[in-house]
Amino acid sequence: MATTAEVRSTLRDLQRHPHDHGWHPFYAVLDSLFAAEEKAGHGPLTRITETCYENRPSLTVSHFVTLLCIALKEMSGDWRNAPVFDRTLPVEQRAEVLRDEIDDNRKTILERVLTRQNSFSSARRFLIPQVLISHFAARTRMSVRLADLGTGAGLLPRQLNSRSNYERFAPGLTWQGWEPSFVEVDYAERWGVDRTPVEDKAWIRHCYGPSAYYDERYEELAWAFDQPEVLDAKLHMADVDLLGPDKLARFLRENRFNVVTCSFVLYQYEQAARETIIAAVVGALPPQGLFVSLEPTGDLLTPGAAIRAYHPGDATPLDIGEVSDGHCIGKVTAGSDFDAFRRDFL
Ligand SMILES: C[S@@+](CC[C@H](N)C(=O)[O-])C[C@H]1O[C@@H](n2cnc3c(N)ncnc32)[C@H](O)[C@@H]1O
Repeated sequence: MATTAEVRSTLRDLQRHPHDHGWHPFYAVLDSLFAAEEKAGHGPLTRITETCYENRPSLTVSHFVTLLCIALKEMSGDWRNAPVFDRTLPVEQRAEVLRDEIDDNRKTILERVLTRQNSFSSARRFLIPQVLISHFAARTRMSVRLADLGTGAGLLPRQLNSRSNYERFAPGLTWQGWEPSFVEVDYAERWGVDRTPVEDKAWIRHCYGPSAYYDERYEELAWAFDQPEVLDAKLHMADVDLLGPDKLARFLRENRFNVVTCSFVLYQYEQAARETIIAAVVGALPPQGLFVSLEPTGDLLTPGAAIRAYHPGDATPLDIGEVSDGHCIGKVTAGSDFDAFRRDFL
């Protein structure tokens, strides 16, 4: 159960994150409203936080905070014209506007934090599974049956094998001690898995932060979707809640998935829930299968993301490496298991 004190502490941690990209001033505005409610002993944000944690006890605080921010951003309309995102106005003035908007929209905000997730979808994160899975599958001439868990916009599984996407984005991400090449492999099936409502484009757009930086990232998403190989890649979508491990394992087994990917999803849940999901996935993989996971280091509070791989039946993560930036612009530092994994499987 997250208290407003924990929420405030996370808001302060997020303001110290070295990458701003537009959210930092808003965290300060939100923190000032939480502080006022703490002083008064009650308020709408306190009630929204309590109700969310009664209903969704396994959410991490960092995910709750970013989800709340996205719901508030949606409520404020176009960020370019919204006073709450206007850096030239004093924090107190923006906080007053935000407080009035929250008062008028309590039900919608609550509905969002109870039913949604942060669904920010990246055009560049596919670079990690692209190189790992393609080299892995090429080595054994494996035909890949892929499930991408928490697929968001459903772009990542469609981008695999896309040379145009690779040529545009790969130069922005270098690997320590490795120059992976573009390798095309056979994808027999590609599935994207998410919770309802899946593929809500308007919500996914709201998940992009209030800045020119995020506008650029969104343009990349639109460009990536428009590429011929991505348009041609047939993707099945499934509405499966990852928090239901039995249903998840059954779904994976019934469709005989031999490669599973999961990017920026597990961090949204507490450790016990993550472990249950990982156990369900590795338990359902056939021999010679692979699970590739990419999750933010420090649950979003520090830059970068950890790349982990799992073999069938083994929930022990292999430390493949760390990406310097969660949007996969920068470099991958090799992890302690990278050399052995590369020697034996890539
Ligand atoms: C931050 S987005 C990541 C999208 C994409 N994988 C990427 O890295 O660009 C996280 C996605 O995981 C999905 N997700 C979170 N919890 C889930 C659950 N319990 N079951 C299914 N999908 C879930 C969310 O709905 C959201 O679309």
